[in-house]
Amino acid sequence: MTQLHVDQLGKRYGAAPVFSGLCFTVAPGEFVAIMGDSGVGKSTLLNCLAGLDHWDAGRITHGSTDLGLLDDRQRALWRRAQVGFVFQAFHVLPHLDVAQNVALPLMLLGRNDAQRVQHMLAAVGLQDLGARLPQQLSGGQLQRVAIARALVHRPALLLADEPTGNLDPATAGRVLDLLHAQTRAHGAALVLATHSDAAAARADRVLRLSAEGIVG
Ligand SMILES: Nc1ncnc2c1ncn2[C@@H]1O[C@H](COP(=O)(O)OP(=O)(O)OP(=O)(O)O)[C@@H](O)[C@H]1O
Ligand SMILES: [Mg+2]
Repeated sequence: MTQLHVDQLGKRYGAAPVFSGLCFTVAPGEFVAIMGDSGVGKSTLLNCLAGLDHWDAGRITHGSTDLGLLDDRQRALWRRAQVGFVFQAFHVLPHLDVAQNVALPLMLLGRNDAQRVQHMLAAVGLQDLGARLPQQLSGGQLQRVAIARALVHRPALLLADEPTGNLDPATAGRVLDLLHAQTRAHGAALVLATHSDAAAARADRVLRLSAEGIVG
């Protein structure tokens, strides 16, 4: 059971600040939505939380792990074991079929589990599309591959960047159910960036990101 803690986080590109002084905590089993205008820094913040981007001030800790103290390799290993990330742009690998894409986190951990992959494909409604290549899928189907891949290894920290942006309301609802169930069942901390009021309404807490900081 691992808590995510962000303390006085600041990030800038050159002289231009993206955000500064961000402080918040996400408890195990908690679903926090981050809302805010386009360009305010939601994706940048999620990338920092995943240790994929660097920040200029403050601290991010996940349990006893201080992300700022890890080198790139340690961060990669931490991320592999602890993080599920649904990217805004999916980042599905084009030369792997759907099932192989979903299986990737398990493979990297040496925990191949075809049954678990099938379970996740079914959970996102893609049980019959495992052998397809990503280019043969619709945008919403690709998004669901990304979600299945983020959940397959039962990560303690789930980061989702606009994960329902390409989905119809019914499918979006099912995907949110799935993220929510995983959060509750495994005590994962879920941070979801979204413009969708429907998605935010499902969260335990909504944080609003702006140039002035983050408020909840
Ligand atoms: N590599 C970069 N160099 C300079 N500025 C950047 C870079 N990447 C992002 N930015 C800027 O940082 C700000 C935050 O971008 P980010 O993608 O985090 O916004 P967002 O809140 O996720 O927006 P959206 O809702 O459109 O997804 C934006 O103003 C963007 O132009
Ligand atoms: Mg974004």
